[in-house]
Amino acid sequence: MTDAIAAGFPASEVPSTADRYVGDPDVRAEWDQRYADRQQLWSGRPNGALVAEAAGLTPGRVLDVGCGEGADALWLARRGWDVTALEVSGVALERAAGHARDAGLTVRWVHASLTAAALPQASFDLVSAQYPALLRTPDAEAERALLAAVAPGGLLLLVHHAGMDSANAHDSGFDPADYVWPSMVAQLLDGDWEVEVDEQRPRVAPDGGAGAHHTDDLVLRVRRLR
Ligand SMILES: C[S@@+](CC[C@H](N)C(=O)[O-])C[C@H]1O[C@@H](n2cnc3c(N)ncnc32)[C@H](O)[C@@H]1O
Repeated sequence: MTDAIAAGFPASEVPSTADRYVGDPDVRAEWDQRYADRQQLWSGRPNGALVAEAAGLTPGRVLDVGCGEGADALWLARRGWDVTALEVSGVALERAAGHARDAGLTVRWVHASLTAAALPQASFDLVSAQYPALLRTPDAEAERALLAAVAPGGLLLLVHHAGMDSANAHDSGFDPADYVWPSMVAQLLDGDWEVEVDEQRPRVAPDGGAGAHHTDDLVLRVRRLR
């Protein structure tokens, strides 16, 4: 387990960002800078695809991967989920934990990158990854980590922006080939998994926030059968 999970942060305590982080320091620094540049980066509202897909689920244990400023984690906690929320940016996590404290909600915050965090395996009823900026590696480490965290009978919900083609990348300096997309997770699925949703659809976007210009989602919802 990571220090963060092992230490078991008390309810909504602001996580220590000084010494507990596990993961690539450059990734952390890049995202810390992005968050620090704005007082608030995202809308503060839960993602529409999460709300659509999770509203009807029976609450259990959920892992929010790349939780950002915590809007999804708080929405899940309000609905009775036992929430573990993981994030590389300490700046974002401090904001998220502050929002949870203000709302009187309990969330287990983990300051780590997905692949460095020694998460409990096969133990989350829902693994939610909403627009996670996970870097690709040749051994598909991040894709495998997403799947490995799901408990038998549980779900992985991976949502990403559609249309991030290489023409966009060329113009903006962002190369989508560097990142994990839902199709890369889908191609790892074997007979232990059932695909419930794998589609592109219009995004139900919260008002405001840095990603508001994205109009369509790629939604992958898969269930671990055993
Ligand atoms: C586009 S933002 C989405 C944030 C949030 N899920 C939302 O929808 O508002 C991507 C997030 O992934 C985080 N992130 C990047 N690499 C990560 C990694 N390896 N493990 C966990 N989180 C990561 C970033 O810090 C950032 O907060």
